[in-house]
Amino acid sequence: MLHNLGSINLDHFYRVPHLVHPGETLASRSYGVGLGGKGANQSLAMALAGGQVCHWGRLGRQDAWARDRLARAGVDVSHVELVDEASGHAIIQVDDHGENAIILYPGANHGFTRRHRDALCDAARPGAWLLVQNECNALPELLECAHRHGLAIAFNPAPMSDTVLELPLDACTLLFVNRGEAAWLTGLPEESDAQVLLEGLHARLPRTATVLTLGREGAWYQSGEERHFQPALPVEAVDTTGAGDTFIGYFLAAMQERRSIRDCLALAAHAAALGVQRPGAADSIPPRDEVERFLASPSNA
Ligand code: RIB
Repeated sequence: MLHNLGSINLDHFYRVPHLVHPGETLASRSYGVGLGGKGANQSLAMALAGGQVCHWGRLGRQDAWARDRLARAGVDVSHVELVDEASGHAIIQVDDHGENAIILYPGANHGFTRRHRDALCDAARPGAWLLVQNECNALPELLECAHRHGLAIAFNPAPMSDTVLELPLDACTLLFVNRGEAAWLTGLPEESDAQVLLEGLHARLPRTATVLTLGREGAWYQSGEERHFQPALPVEAVDTTGAGDTFIGYFLAAMQERRSIRDCLALAAHAAALGVQRPGAADSIPPRDEVERFLASPSNA
């Protein structure tokens, strides 16, 4: 069982002709609300991929539907609390090229305390995986506690902020980063070659394996001297929101099945490529059978 302590958001989506400029007022072409939050998306993706995942989260009482949605997909939600607070939410603009811009309100996602940390560290067996992103509070204490208890930590430092640089990152077993996050962590220019970013990450965190996702430039896995590359799939993106989360959930589910790293990368890349072709965050995550059909399709031969 993987334990994911992560955000649950209500995503407010606005389809816009372009991302709003400073000082501009822009009418959106459409509006909708769906399940999101990097934590919830990653748990959902993992469950849809067939993985065993227990989500630790906090949600406003009035939004229990979001917890129930995770439960229906197979996520263990026994540690999702309903609280008398506003849920986290995100305001998401998506433009005609599928690019997005997001404003986050953390809400209940920032109400974690020592009680949650201790309960999680007691519940998880040594050697079990803990997954975290950067949308919840109390990460330094959680990472230290998990490390002390012998958990394997997978960390996705998104959305990136300076506080990430103060975390005990060398306690992490596996890091999922995109180009911007890799540059921030290493101090290298964002436009650096992938090999340079990988070398920088290895120099900074020699004992941590890394998955570097580069969108249209594919994805890399690095552990010590070992490197694997997964090319991107040529698809037309309508909305990239949640694509990274889909990738991570599928990768971890394949790892849980003890598949090879090449298989983990391929499954994750195909799932994310399907996800970007449909709108929404959680709503865009494909089920495993669809991903398997895509992997086996003649265009992949
Ligand atoms: O990664 C996508 C997610 O980022 C969205 O679902 C939104 O809630 C923000 O957390």
